[in-house]
Amino acid sequence: MILYNDRLIPREEAHIDVEDRGYQFGDGVYEVIRIYHRSIFALEEHLERLERSAKEIRMDLPCSKDTLTKRLHELIEYEKVEEGIIYLQVTRGYAPRSHPIPADSQPLLTASAKSLPRPAATMKNGVKTILIPDARWLRCDIKSLNLLGSVLAKQEALDHGAFEAILHRDGTVTEGSSTNVMIVKNGVLLTHPANHLILHGITRSVILKLAEKLSIPVAEAAFSTEQLLTSDEVFLSGTTVEVTPVIQIGERTIGDGLPGAVTRQLQGAFEDKIM
Ligand code: PDD
Repeated sequence: MILYNDRLIPREEAHIDVEDRGYQFGDGVYEVIRIYHRSIFALEEHLERLERSAKEIRMDLPCSKDTLTKRLHELIEYEKVEEGIIYLQVTRGYAPRSHPIPADSQPLLTASAKSLPRPAATMKNGVKTILIPDARWLRCDIKSLNLLGSVLAKQEALDHGAFEAILHRDGTVTEGSSTNVMIVKNGVLLTHPANHLILHGITRSVILKLAEKLSIPVAEAAFSTEQLLTSDEVFLSGTTVEVTPVIQIGERTIGDGLPGAVTRQLQGAFEDKIM
């Protein structure tokens, strides 16, 4: 079953026009949400971000947050997803192709849920990454369907045998292709400020709150590629990666090439939170 606006219907019955603006322009927004033990993690935060993304592209959601919450719970009950993810997107809907925002198109929401195990191995062992220029647009705070910049960056990482591409703008580190990036230097946790250059990750804000609770000093401040490469610890945060240690960036080994102590501490705190 999928959620189609405010109704659960069999996937085969969903009708999406070839002139849907999501299909033709990438004109829409999305969310990826975790399911742990059959419950939806940080749903309120995800729906708030969805609403904000929609507002920023001047689009209304086709149903209220309350209805959406109800239907998403029905969806995971129906699909019997124990550990997994919900993928949800809202496009501006059908309109004859023309750039201006149509006055009367009906937004189209679709959501599906599927089982997906937690990334145990990469969280335990850490991952290799590459460092490349951030070629995306200047509104990365909007969780837009336009993901070509991220797709190409991720593929470049895979082509180099790496897990993720860490992006920088003129030497300032922004985020990963589908993750936020945090570093630890002399015990201080640093991450790019939540402005227009990064996605305001839900996991990012959970981690920052956990760090505060653990009395780990935090600075939401821009840092350079030089700081990144010479930091004691680096990790990625995100719905799909949770807290994933970075042990290598390009040819450079981070710390002693093993997940760092602060990263481990935050992984433990995150684990407690979702259990
Ligand atoms: N990506 N930065 C970018 C560019 C992202 O695409 C994501 C999430 C994040 C992490 O945000 P959050 O903690 O809210 O998941 C940061 C999703 C998972 C995706 O596109 O698949």
